[in-house]
Amino acid sequence: MSRSEPLVIFDTTLRDGEQSPGASMTRDEKIRIARALEKMRVDVIEAGFPVASLGDFDSVKAVAGTIKDSTVCALARAVDGDIERAGEALKPAASGRIHTFIATSPIHMQEKLRMSSQQVVEQAVHAVKFAGRYTDNIEFSPEDAGRSETDFLCRVIEAVIDAGATTINIPDTVGYNLPHRFGALVGELIECVPNADKAVFSVHCHNDLGLAVANSLSAVMHGARQVECTINGLGERAGNASLEEIVMAVRTRQDTFACDVGLDTTQIMTCSRLVSGITGFPVQPNKAIVGANAFAHESGIHQDGVLKSRETYEIMRAQDVGWAANKIVLGKHSGRNAFKTRLAELGVDFQSDEELNHAFDRFKVLADKKHEIFDEDLQALVSEASASDMDEKYKLIWLKVCSETGETPDATVTLSIDGDERRGYAAGSGPVDATFKAIETIVKSDTDLQLYSVNSITSGTDSQGEVTVRLAGQGRIVNGQGADTDIVVASAKAYLNAINTIYAVPDKTHPQLGDV
Ligand code: KIV
Ligand code: ZN
Repeated sequence: MSRSEPLVIFDTTLRDGEQSPGASMTRDEKIRIARALEKMRVDVIEAGFPVASLGDFDSVKAVAGTIKDSTVCALARAVDGDIERAGEALKPAASGRIHTFIATSPIHMQEKLRMSSQQVVEQAVHAVKFAGRYTDNIEFSPEDAGRSETDFLCRVIEAVIDAGATTINIPDTVGYNLPHRFGALVGELIECVPNADKAVFSVHCHNDLGLAVANSLSAVMHGARQVECTINGLGERAGNASLEEIVMAVRTRQDTFACDVGLDTTQIMTCSRLVSGITGFPVQPNKAIVGANAFAHESGIHQDGVLKSRETYEIMRAQDVGWAANKIVLGKHSGRNAFKTRLAELGVDFQSDEELNHAFDRFKVLADKKHEIFDEDLQALVSEASASDMDEKYKLIWLKVCSETGETPDATVTLSIDGDERRGYAAGSGPVDATFKAIETIVKSDTDLQLYSVNSITSGTDSQGEVTVRLAGQGRIVNGQGADTDIVVASAKAYLNAINTIYAVPDKTHPQLGDV
């Protein structure tokens, strides 16, 4: 029998991850990610902040109605209105949790909340009791705990556990802490709060100093038994602790940790690619566990060592996190069934025949251009198909680009706008610049281009280029993605996807701004 205690993995990709500028997801995208997380056996999925907007409420409700094997959690500030919406959204859940929070650091209490410490304790206790009307699975977070006074934290935590909180989450909201100190803080709280044995202690670390994973693991060494994290470390500002790094550190160093995770780690790569494809946040090649170079050996000495004995330079097996050698999985002659089966293996299930047919049509177009289709191509194709399923005001019909050494590039584009065709022309400093300008002669979006990036999905010059475009406008920031073997076409698709998203994604309340 294992001597390990369980370490609860709480994934907040759909909530804190979505707070990354430009990472907003549609309801269907959230459901796809939630299903992949459930398949990976994540314990708790934080699905969103229902009071933020109608769209957020619907997404949390839809995830709650879909997921059966993981607990679905909804975030609420410590106010009745938020908690009511969270409770409503979680009604269909097989297992639901309300996560309520209020800030406890001097700077947040004085400057943001303008409340005394006594008022904060009272509001926290009231919120936890109020959440008890909906569920007995209640998590409480003293926001900015990493900059709060330890004595005050002990006071708040004792009071909310008495009021019914079953998980106490200690957030390093602004990523200010250092590992030795943060671990010691969590250890001290567990020791000093008289009723600490009645709750699971959790941590939620941000990566502003690149220490989110180190801080979380240090807290685990001091008794935390839940870690909040996100796929690929997505999240507010520099992001949250990355799930894959936490999970593999605990798994790989069982000689050191007194706890273990219950996850199926072979699903990590599928989740990583899915989140990257949906949000348009590429994974850097040297990212631990999921980066393209994570298991690649460049130097001759290393390659020689690995061939003689893998353990000379590898501490984990690539297969254990879901890396498979690039396989040609499908081609031009593959049928609908083979396509559907391979995508199901990758964690993508189609909700209707119409959705399957739509994706399969795109696959056929791609297979005509590119003879070898890899898993990465399939994932990009599905992400693109789901992006184009939203109501698209603008669609790309036709594009012609002229680019020649010594000449100014220009582009002519035809778009359909709610069904009507319009043509635009512009010159630019390069073919992509000319294409975006040509699109702008038609859409006049008044947006600001904040990011443009191209990644090749697989190796080889016939690879699809996956383009991410980030636009700021109409009071929000959105990402758009497009993939094609022609990177200028991929760029045009990504640009239009971002424009369509600006019109489709409603504005919403940020959980950590404003008064409670
Ligand atoms: O970073 C933070 O403090 C949060 C809380 C809402 C838990 O995301
Ligand atoms: Zn956070």
